[in-house]
Amino acid sequence: MNTQTKTCTCKTESEHEKLERIEEVIEEYKDKEGSLIQILHMAQGIYGYLPLKVQQFIAERINKPLSEVSGVVTFYSYFSTMPKGKNTIRVCLGTACYVRGGKKIIERLKEILEVDVGATTQDGRFTLEVMRCIGACGLAPAITINDKVYKQVNPDKLRSILDQY
Ligand code: FES
Repeated sequence: MNTQTKTCTCKTESEHEKLERIEEVIEEYKDKEGSLIQILHMAQGIYGYLPLKVQQFIAERINKPLSEVSGVVTFYSYFSTMPKGKNTIRVCLGTACYVRGGKKIIERLKEILEVDVGATTQDGRFTLEVMRCIGACGLAPAITINDKVYKQVNPDKLRSILDQY
């Protein structure tokens, strides 16, 4: 009889596999122009977000200081250092949207989702973010959920929009 106890290492393995894939991306991109941003985009796609340990992993392999990598991650709102929800809601706070009720939309979403901007709901369904103008100013206020754009959004309709997700 086999008395060996097996410990599940799925989590470790998948983490390891993700880092291996990021390493492959680094090898492919590291000598190209503007490689850091490309690597970070790909790494976020693979890992889901960019925690400090992933930033450190990248910095070491491209021989750059961690401060430089972290500087890029924090500068671009696209990058996230926290795990994201299944769906990302972005509310436009460009001038037109702001003037036409973007702030009210944020307040309503915070109420419905019970999270602050930048946070993810407890059930992991939604992350709430703000964004700059996406060029739909004529039909402000605008929001996006994942890749879909919603224009002339009425705060009272938000709940039914969210129910689709
Ligand atoms: S200001 Fe919101 S789309 Fe332009």
